[in-house]
Amino acid sequence: MQAADPPATDLWHDWLLGRRLGHDAALEQVVRAKVERYVERLLDAAALAPGQRIADIGCGEGVVAWRAFERVGPTLSALLADVSAPLLEHARARAEALGLAGRCRFLQCPADELGAVGDASLDLVTTRAALAYVADKPRALREFLRVLAPGGRLSMAEPVFRDDALTALALRQRAGAAGADAFIGLLQRWKAAQFPDSEAAIAASPIANYSERDLFAFAQAAGFEAVHLELHIDLRPAETRSWAAFLATSPHPWAPTLGQVMAERFSEAERALFEQVMRPAVEAGRTETVDRVAYLSARKPGA
Ligand SMILES: C[S@@+](CC[C@H](N)C(=O)[O-])C[C@H]1O[C@@H](n2cnc3c(N)ncnc32)[C@H](O)[C@@H]1O
Repeated sequence: MQAADPPATDLWHDWLLGRRLGHDAALEQVVRAKVERYVERLLDAAALAPGQRIADIGCGEGVVAWRAFERVGPTLSALLADVSAPLLEHARARAEALGLAGRCRFLQCPADELGAVGDASLDLVTTRAALAYVADKPRALREFLRVLAPGGRLSMAEPVFRDDALTALALRQRAGAAGADAFIGLLQRWKAAQFPDSEAAIAASPIANYSERDLFAFAQAAGFEAVHLELHIDLRPAETRSWAAFLATSPHPWAPTLGQVMAERFSEAERALFEQVMRPAVEAGRTETVDRVAYLSARKPGA
């Protein structure tokens, strides 16, 4: 019997290769340059060396692995793991195009259940913007420890969305106050569609219910040593001045785009008001975003 073809796309694939980039070439360049900086920083802390057995968990397109090969050459062997079959197919095709297929293995599995990966079989585990979506992060960190050889290293770079959720919550309180203007109400509905905006929803959301300190504590509790964490917070101008791209992008895979929010949740009059205020600000480059990234590196004891 032939194995069924994997689906051509899914939520993760759609976002990573589509909505994240706003279907806009200029925005794609900016986003890819930003991700490259995250990956460089993550690999700087990874003690990468020729001949290592590495794994990138939640690999997406495989950007971390391809950069690792560029840094130390084709003697690495890489395991690329992800829950998304379409993204694994995409990464596999890329490995072939790069002539690295023979050095790579692809595995469909969640970060907190690496069952097919042997104990102590790896020198380096990396993960970039993937643990954020895992509900049981302590369990994922225990899995990372299990698959590393003694002395093996973990290096990760994860977004911290908690403050975005707290901002959505604060907006909800502000929009509900007497005298709040109509635009604030629309801003609140946009943010509430993209981030949990109540204490209960924040506590239940894998992307919002942890801080960088929790990541540190999870790594320590899993049994890692030399755990080091740096939180980088950067206020940046919004990544696009194109209204079309601004409408077509969303901040994470579970969030609808602003265009979807406006189409599905605003009336015609609300859409007109929102565009009248927001569009000139976007086109004049007067909007800003805050990036919060936690870089964590650690070592498995017993080298
Ligand atoms: C924001 S993307 C990041 C992809 C890639 N690491 C990068 O840096 O471009 C999140 C990735 O995590 C994967 N993912 C989501 N939930 C996961 C889980 N429970 N276990 C492992 N990977 C997961 C998605 O399929 C997607 O590839």
